[in-house]
Amino acid sequence: MEVRFGSTVNGNLLSRGELLQFIRAFVRASEMDPGYYMEFGVLNGSSMVEAWGTLRGTLTHLYGFDSFAGLPPGSIQDELSKDLMPSFKQGNFRSMSRERVQESILASTFNLSPDMLSLSEGFFEESLPSFDLECFEDKGPCLVAHVDCDLYSSSVAVFNFLDGIATTGTWLLLDDYWHYRGSPRHGQRRAFDEWMATSSRIGATEYASYGGFCKAFILHEKY
Ligand SMILES: C[S@@+](CC[C@H](N)C(=O)[O-])C[C@H]1O[C@@H](n2cnc3c(N)ncnc32)[C@H](O)[C@@H]1O
Repeated sequence: MEVRFGSTVNGNLLSRGELLQFIRAFVRASEMDPGYYMEFGVLNGSSMVEAWGTLRGTLTHLYGFDSFAGLPPGSIQDELSKDLMPSFKQGNFRSMSRERVQESILASTFNLSPDMLSLSEGFFEESLPSFDLECFEDKGPCLVAHVDCDLYSSSVAVFNFLDGIATTGTWLLLDDYWHYRGSPRHGQRRAFDEWMATSSRIGATEYASYGGFCKAFILHEKY
């Protein structure tokens, strides 16, 4: 008999949609100011569309970051892990062009004007350190950072960036936490553990696993 992933998932699993619904309630109950959503790993924009729709009323802006050319070449650490996650290889998850993704997101959302959506093209290792942080000044707090970029090296670049941006109450959604057969020695989970062990500014509290391979945390400033 063919074993199908869908039929093996526990029916009580929290979905990303349900988690986003709770985040909206959390932001409102905590009386947080409207703020922005960031996504690292946009592909064709479907998770950004879902976030905009579900977090409605709480968001000032959507920021998305992607190469729009698929996964980068792996680092030495990624190479050491590749047999545990063979589909995470260079060029996989290639999307439409940045312009087409922008058009598609705008066409699939209600009340999202073009000036509320910024998609940055390039590999994170180059695009994030040079990103102009001044654009956040009138956008409120970083409410949600959705990290969906598969690799250890990509996640390291994202966490370095988030360390200066996250605030108390920022939700960190790690889409790839349980990949690499759940081993803490590989992938996004390794990068996250290293960030938490070394950051002097940001800590994290576990909230819940969701969607099968994903895990949500709430970040806080340490001082
Ligand atoms: C699994 S897809 C994202 C799926 C998307 N969030 C969704 O739910 O529809 C992973 C994306 O991460 C991007 N990515 C991974 N590492 C990257 C890096 N270092 N720089 C830029 N983009 C990267 C890939 O180009 C790809 O589009």
